[in-house]
Amino acid sequence: MTAIATLQQSFTLPCGVTIPNRIVKSAMSENNADEGGRPSERIIKLYETWGKGETGILISGNVMVDSHALGEEGNVIVEDERYLAELSRWAEAAQAHGSHLWMQINHPGRQAPSFNKEVVSPSDVELPMPGLKGMFRKPRPLSEAEIWELIEAFGRTALLAKKAGWKGVQIHGAHGYLVSQFLSPRTNLRTDQWGGSIENRARFALEIYRNMRAKVGAGFPIGIKINSADFQRGAFTEEESLQVIRMLADEGMDMIEVSGGTYERAAMMGRSQKRSTQEREAYFAEFIVKARAVTNAPLLLTGGFRTVEVMAKAIENKELDFIGIARPFAIYPYLTKEILAGKITETRSGNVNTGIKAIDRIGFMDIAWHTENMRRMGLGKKPKPNLSPLRVFMKFAWENRKNMG
Ligand SMILES: Cc1cc2nc3c(=O)[nH]c(=O)nc-3n(C[C@H](O)[C@H](O)[C@H](O)COP(=O)(O)O)c2cc1C
Repeated sequence: MTAIATLQQSFTLPCGVTIPNRIVKSAMSENNADEGGRPSERIIKLYETWGKGETGILISGNVMVDSHALGEEGNVIVEDERYLAELSRWAEAAQAHGSHLWMQINHPGRQAPSFNKEVVSPSDVELPMPGLKGMFRKPRPLSEAEIWELIEAFGRTALLAKKAGWKGVQIHGAHGYLVSQFLSPRTNLRTDQWGGSIENRARFALEIYRNMRAKVGAGFPIGIKINSADFQRGAFTEEESLQVIRMLADEGMDMIEVSGGTYERAAMMGRSQKRSTQEREAYFAEFIVKARAVTNAPLLLTGGFRTVEVMAKAIENKELDFIGIARPFAIYPYLTKEILAGKITETRSGNVNTGIKAIDRIGFMDIAWHTENMRRMGLGKKPKPNLSPLRVFMKFAWENRKNMG
């Protein structure tokens, strides 16, 4: 089979829904909502453009379950039915050419910047970010009742996505946000049923899944994004991740996306790894083979995929089922269609280094630079592959001056 034919194959998830091909646009926070977290015309326009690219699944940027806990000021917030009309138009725009739109559902926990009035987490372990002093504050541990309220909130948001015509949801369990904080013994010091053993630390993720499943029913796709590891001493390890993947698969999870890292160590962007890993395609390629050995659940791998040959080989080798791509979609709006037509065999993401070490190490520019190009697309403009990283940094720093301590 040719590489293109491999990527072109459809795939039926455990819930019975068939995805048209194997390419997934992984979540990239649009950070472009209107006041109050309302999905903007700019976001809808961006997905109308991406929709023309016929990608199997378009996963939205992280959508917040609680207006009191934002990861960024421009996040979309879905707590109740008030934005149902905008969410429906978003779904129609994205799905007009056959793509499935999934909502990534998130709560930032301690990775909520200081503009939030209060910051919560499993325990009171502050996010240490040298160089960004004052940006994050010490979180307050959640009470038992609050934990259950948040589980309910994740479920509620999933049901709203379904009502608005979205074709699936994804729990954000990676990158050091709240679900990932529960999983890590570095941020979860609890001694109740939510902390301690890996079974207890995984309980939050599992209860969110169960709550969502009860609300959306058996035929609606639910996925999760999870870290292969946090890449920090005393944090979530590969062995633990494999255990959690098995638990999630046993529950019936429709798709498990593997990534890695947190705000402290931006492994998801290929930062803070050994040079050999950074240069290799697919940063978590060795881990996915271990994950495949413990589960038959559909696996999606994201981080570093750039050539069609490597993407197809991973599927042919049965290491995984779906290829996740993020940053290149901010440069090539119709990437999947062009790959499947044989027009693109290799992509790139932006060269985004400023030369300032403290900034480049944390992957901050990966976010700011690609966000800027997504914003251009939201205004109906073409992305600019040669945007100056330093200019983008200055603009971002100016817009976020009140959050930067
Ligand atoms: C601008 C930007 C925003 C991102 N926002 C999210 C997000 O909301 N949720 C998430 O899970 N990952 C997010 N990511 C990480 C990507 O999904 C992906 O894991 C990472 O970019 C590595 O994949 P790539 O090498 O194909 O870009 C973001 C990445 C970028 C560049």
